[in-house]
Amino acid sequence: MKVTFADQRPGGAYALAIPVRGDDMLTDRLAGFDDAARRLAARAAEAQRFERELGAIAETFVDEGEAARRLLLVGLGGKRDDEALYERVGGALTARLLTSGETRLVVDLSGLELEEEAGARIAFGAAARAWRHDLYRTKLPRKQKPTLEEVVIVGGGAGAEGHWARREALLGGIAFTRELVTEPANIVYPESFVERCRAQLEPLGVEIEVLDEKAMGELGMGALLGVSLGSEKPPRLLAMRWNGAGDDRKPVVFIGKGVTFDTGGISIKPAQGMEAMKWDMGGAGAVAGAMKAIAGRKAKANVVGICGLVENMPDGKAQRPGDVVTSMSGQTIEVINTDAEGRLVLCDCMTWAQRQYKPEVMVDLATLTGAMIISLGYEYAGLFANDDGLASRLTAAGQATGDRLWRLPMGEAYDKMMDSPIADMKNSGAREAGSITAACFLGRFVEEGVKWAHLDIAGMVWANKAGHLCDKGATGYGVALLDRYVADHHEG
Ligand code: BES
Ligand code: MN
Ligand code: ZN
Repeated sequence: MKVTFADQRPGGAYALAIPVRGDDMLTDRLAGFDDAARRLAARAAEAQRFERELGAIAETFVDEGEAARRLLLVGLGGKRDDEALYERVGGALTARLLTSGETRLVVDLSGLELEEEAGARIAFGAAARAWRHDLYRTKLPRKQKPTLEEVVIVGGGAGAEGHWARREALLGGIAFTRELVTEPANIVYPESFVERCRAQLEPLGVEIEVLDEKAMGELGMGALLGVSLGSEKPPRLLAMRWNGAGDDRKPVVFIGKGVTFDTGGISIKPAQGMEAMKWDMGGAGAVAGAMKAIAGRKAKANVVGICGLVENMPDGKAQRPGDVVTSMSGQTIEVINTDAEGRLVLCDCMTWAQRQYKPEVMVDLATLTGAMIISLGYEYAGLFANDDGLASRLTAAGQATGDRLWRLPMGEAYDKMMDSPIADMKNSGAREAGSITAACFLGRFVEEGVKWAHLDIAGMVWANKAGHLCDKGATGYGVALLDRYVADHHEG
């Protein structure tokens, strides 16, 4: 989506959106129109029960000179502190217009005196909601093809455009994550995931380092490699480094679970719905997209993104329930359930990251447990942390961006549930508190003094229905969250 900013409404054909607050006089907002147009707009608002709720739309056509123009009144709601308020307004307009036949949307903010960021945020929402993946649809009916190509923000004030650059970078990151998550597992697998990251990130100045099977073997990553045994696709550990701080301060490290397909392995999953496990790399996808957003806006921070990339398949060579593997940390793990593979991948990534970068802060993101969806549904990701400050900083970044987080407890009683009679720990405990015991498993790989958070994003990566800022499908969850967290706490 092309985004531009202007002082005046342009000429030519476009749909015109006029935002309306709860307490605005409609006549004031329509000051530029003649009486007939104002009557039509007022009637449309009434007839369509438009009550200026956030993102609500009333639509009509008015005569403007020689042309009939589509006019949309869009609600700004009553509260100024609604989460992602302006983004939602942009998203609602795109949802309405994307395949409407209109090619250009003009949002006229003149006379509203909104905060300086409003225009850029509306544009961001409009562009984010427009993202689609039609690559494999060779027979898309004409009426389902997107027509909307451009958003023009009018009257957003002199500073409006300046806020766009950062959001444009964020949008690029989110689009990249959505693409990685949407692509099926025969297209995006460990090697091709790495190549896509190279293509997107190296031009931005991100340094890429890749460990192959042999390198990981020499490092003793028996937990990660055990998961990969059943797959024909060789595993990869991908490290993406952005040195934007201009000094040698310790980087903040993000780690993503990148299981490019999770069949469950020998503890195989039921066929019903298994196709969803193409997005079991959503944590890695979020980390890759966040790196793109962060490098794209040249953030003054040192950030490393690490993706543990494997495919979990059943095979004659696959690992078995009961097998004992040795992780890079030296700790041994009894593999009770080969479907609890994410933690096996992450634990070796965590050890490698801590040895390599000595981070003070380490955050992992993973579609780790189905139990997470049972606890929090599709509204919040689960947050687990060994540090209250880090937990509240991440929670705040989530609240600000709409990538919401809710903290859950950890502790010794849960941790004990992961003890094994034959090894240092097992990879799967009881059914109860499954997300918490998974976090406790990971906690055993956090080294002294490292502030660590684990985000279980199992419910957030994919949406079964359209949301405010995305259609059905890949959401791009986590990119805005990490970008915002870095901006607020690791820059300057
Ligand atoms: N990738 C799954 C978790 C998942 C399930 C994410 C459904 C999104 C939707 C993970 O690897 C897994 O299979 N976890 C098991 C753990 C269990 C065997 C301890 C689970 O949640 O059932
Ligand atoms: Mn699994
Ligand atoms: Zn998995």
